[in-house]
Order: sequence, then C-alpha cells, then structure tokens
Amino acid sequence: MTTSKVLRCVRDFLKPILILIIIGFSSIGSVNAANAVYIFGDSFIDTGNAGPQGFPYGMTWPGYPAGRACDGRNEADFFAEVFNLPLPTPFLELKNDSESLLGVNFGRGGGSITYAFGYTTLDTQVDQLETLFEKNVLTKSHLSNSVTLINTGVNDYSSRNINESFQVSPYSDELKSLVANVVDGISFNIMRLHGFGMNNFVVANLPNMPCSPFITAQSNFSACRVRILILDQTKAFDHVFHNGGDFGFTETLKPCCYNKDPLDSSQHCGSTDSGGHRTYTLCEDPSKYLIFDGIHPTQAGWKVIFNLYKYDTRFTIGALNIYEWINTYEL
Ligand SMILES: *[C@@H]1O[C@H](CO)[C@@H](O)[C@H](O)[C@H]1NC(C)=O
Ligand SMILES: *[C@@H]1O[C@H](CO)[C@@H](O)[C@H](O)[C@H]1NC(C)=O
Ligand SMILES: *[C@@H]1O[C@H](CO)[C@@H](O)[C@H](O)[C@H]1NC(C)=O
Repeated sequence: MTTSKVLRCVRDFLKPILILIIIGFSSIGSVNAANAVYIFGDSFIDTGNAGPQGFPYGMTWPGYPAGRACDGRNEADFFAEVFNLPLPTPFLELKNDSESLLGVNFGRGGGSITYAFGYTTLDTQVDQLETLFEKNVLTKSHLSNSVTLINTGVNDYSSRNINESFQVSPYSDELKSLVANVVDGISFNIMRLHGFGMNNFVVANLPNMPCSPFITAQSNFSACRVRILILDQTKAFDHVFHNGGDFGFTETLKPCCYNKDPLDSSQHCGSTDSGGHRTYTLCEDPSKYLIFDGIHPTQAGWKVIFNLYKYDTRFTIGALNIYEWINTYEL
C-alpha cells in the first residue's frame, strides 16, 4: 500500500464519522422543538454559497442547478427535514438580516478548517454568523433554541494529498499536526458558537469535549450533560455499497455522472471542453445510482443512508436511532 493510499484511508475514515452532540447546559426546551437550523462546512452540506453548479446538478430536484453538489437534495435538506424546520437560506442569498432568523447555511463547497483550497473556512463561516450576532439580529435566546450541523474536514486532508504530497508515514508529525489543527479548529468554532448561545450541535468527528471539566464544572463535575449520538457513516455507506440492490440501486460503485476518461482529472461532472461538448457521461436515472459524481451520493443515496439513521439501530452507536434519540431526551 502506498503512502497516498494509506492517507486516503485515513481521510476516508476520518470523514464519515458524524457525531451528534446535544449539549444541555440549561433547561431550554427539546431538540424536536428547535426553531431554526444553522449549518457550517463544505460541499456535503452547501446549498448555494459556492454559486450555481452547472447542469446536471439539480436535475432530480429542483430541476435546475441549485448550488448543491448533488442531483437533488443533500444532507442539509434531510437534516432540516428531520427537525421539521425550513431549509436554511444560503448565507450569500440572504435578502436581509432578519431572514437569518429562519436559519442560515454558511457551508461552502471546498470549505475547510485549514484554508485547504482557499475557500471560506469554518472560522470565516462563524465570523459571518458573528456579524449577525453583533448586530443583535441573532440573539442568544434565539440561537439557544436552534440546531447546528457542522460537516467539514475532508478538504483539509484531501487538499494535502494532491500530487501525493504526503510522502510520509500516516503516523508522521505532519499528519498528526494536521489532525490536531482540524480537530482544534472544529472545537474552537463550537466554543465560539456556544458563546453566541448555541447549545445543539451535529458535528463531524470531534472528541468528547462536553465531558471535559470546563463544561462539567457547571454541574460540579457530576455529569457530562451531553447526549451523543454517533452516526456510523462508515457502516451506513458500507451497507448501501454492498446491498445496493435491496434499496433499488442498480449501480453502487459506478457513479451517475463521471469523466468520459475516468483517469483524466481535468474532467469532472458538469465540465465541457473548449468546443462546449460534455466531457462527462450522465446516467438516465440518478435514482438507480448510489453515487452521483466522484464522491457525493445522489438524492436517492442520501435518502437511503439517512433512513438507516432514522429507522434502524445498527447504524448509530448507542442503540438508538435518530427518532428514538430525539424523543428520549428532554433538554
Ligand atoms: C426580509 O426579506 C424577506 C424575504 O424577502 C421578507 O419577507 C421580509 O419582509 C424582509 N424583512 C425586512 C425587515 O425587510
Ligand atoms: C500538481 O502537479 C501539477 C502537474 O505537475 C502541477 O501543475 C500542480 O501545481 C501540482 N499541484 C500541487 C498542489 O502541488
Ligand atoms: C461538589 O461535589 C463535591 C463532592 O464530589 C462536594 O463535596 C461539594 O460540596 C460539591 N459542591 C457543590 C457546590 O455542590
């Protein structure tokens, strides 16, 4: 196994772990009565900040490019839906400040913790929310009853794997410091968001910070006061990759939309050559495919995966599915 393959494995392992953290510092109502969704991260959850994607993005829903790296709805859409909340407006599409009270998606395709590809970092996304907080538009009491999804990190690893630039062991100081920077960056921004009043976080790949003494001090170190539901994304993807037929997929490993020359990295889903001709092939029916492009699931793929979290107990760690989890705890 080459170094880059090992790193790809490390990256692929780190990326899929979603940790659902609900931190209850005080009695503020239950999660299923949250009043808005705020989302931070990268192209897994971006719904418009990276600008419109070209055709065929959005082909399944809404029928035109809608700023998602998907043929239809992505995790942000299903996330808002599970809380019965309206889809948060992409930050760049807010018509005025007060619209932010209904929820905002700050996520940006290519986003990262460590300025990996030069796109909006998690720090900057949180700065954007802070501006609305300082203007007293988003208040502590409002944000304390909101739900936050953070899904980022993959770009921090993938950007450094371009041209096999990690010519080092996966246990190297370089990688260790990168992991530390990514985890610290997520942790730091959660602390900032908590400072604005937010209590309810769905976060990718964090250590169990809310059991740390600076949090538990509020209960005289008697309880973590956290409810953590780990969504086992690795297991969920693996299950669908290997049992695609059970969910109506005819293709699980082959993407719907891909480069005509699969090994030509200058081509990608949606790209054209200088003559305006497609340099990709596009399937007829994305609902038969688990994966839409080089990495992102189709709408049908996300729906199947999210249903595993909703109705099954085998794809979360802790023996509760997300519905049972929502209904078990009172904050
Ligand atoms: C803000 O924009 C929304 C959506 O266009 C609109 O419904 C609302 O009236 C506006 N609010 C203010 C204060 O301008
Ligand atoms: C990767 O290699 C290509 C071709 O040699 C080069 O143009 C590009 O700048 C390199 N990218 C990085 C991030 O080193
Ligand atoms: C905190 O807990 C310790 C025992 O673990 C107890 O002695 C102490 O009185 C408690 N302090 C408060 C303020 O409840």
